[in-house]
Amino acid sequence: MTESNTLTQSTVPNSDVDRVVIRPAIASDVRAIKDLVDPFARDAVMLPKSLTDLYESVRDFMVIEVGGEIAGMGALHVLWEDLAEIRTLAVHPDHQGKGFGKQVTIKLMEEAERLEVGRVFALTYQEKFFKSLGFRVVDKQLLPKKIWGDCIHCKKFPMCDEIAVVYDFRPYPEGPIGPPPELPQVIDLKVLVPGLGEKKE
Ligand SMILES: CC(C)(COP(=O)(O)OP(=O)(O)OC[C@H]1O[C@@H](n2cnc3c(N)ncnc32)[C@H](O)[C@@H]1OP(=O)(O)O)[C@@H](O)C(=O)NCCC(=O)NCCS
Repeated sequence: MTESNTLTQSTVPNSDVDRVVIRPAIASDVRAIKDLVDPFARDAVMLPKSLTDLYESVRDFMVIEVGGEIAGMGALHVLWEDLAEIRTLAVHPDHQGKGFGKQVTIKLMEEAERLEVGRVFALTYQEKFFKSLGFRVVDKQLLPKKIWGDCIHCKKFPMCDEIAVVYDFRPYPEGPIGPPPELPQVIDLKVLVPGLGEKKE
């Protein structure tokens, strides 16, 4: 992953109005981040995020600023010694297909490398996008159960059709990803959602 604060010359127009910067988010970006997330969450393409969620995780975020406006963002959330998730990744529809999604993801991957996290995963519908960045598809069941705690807020829960993609910075053996499944901090969905999986009368 290459280091760059601004996008490559070919994607950066000369005018300040269109100047593109990818930078860590600050607290005052949060409302713009929420405005970007909300329409995607309504379409169940992304998980909804409250302002509280976003303020509490603002340090996970990189934003894409175009001419002073937030045009996209992505977050890297560390879950374990060797595991982090790319989440809340989106580019405003007016700016999609310009390489911004790829550039912000590369910045998040550089952050994962800096933190010496060995693996990064995402739950997504954007298989081709992540494959273009070197991710591979894995069985969702291999991911730590903890991550499903957020899924109860999704419109599609529990009928999730997202795929899991993983990028390994170093080789790992086949099998469960992240913390050992038997650890007590792993969330049990049947405790979180009483009655889950039981037949309705
Ligand atoms: C996914 C998303 C962030 C991609 O951002 P983007 O800025 O449009 O993507 P880029 O222009 O950086 O594209 C990077 C590469 O992925 C490919 N790509 C991007 N979106 C794609 C799509 N929907 N289907 C197929 N390929 C896609 C591009 O062709 C490009 O490939 P290349 O580098 O070989 O030319 C954006 O489409 C988006 O916001 N989608 C809605 C929200 C969402 O689904 N987020 C993902 C949650 S994990």
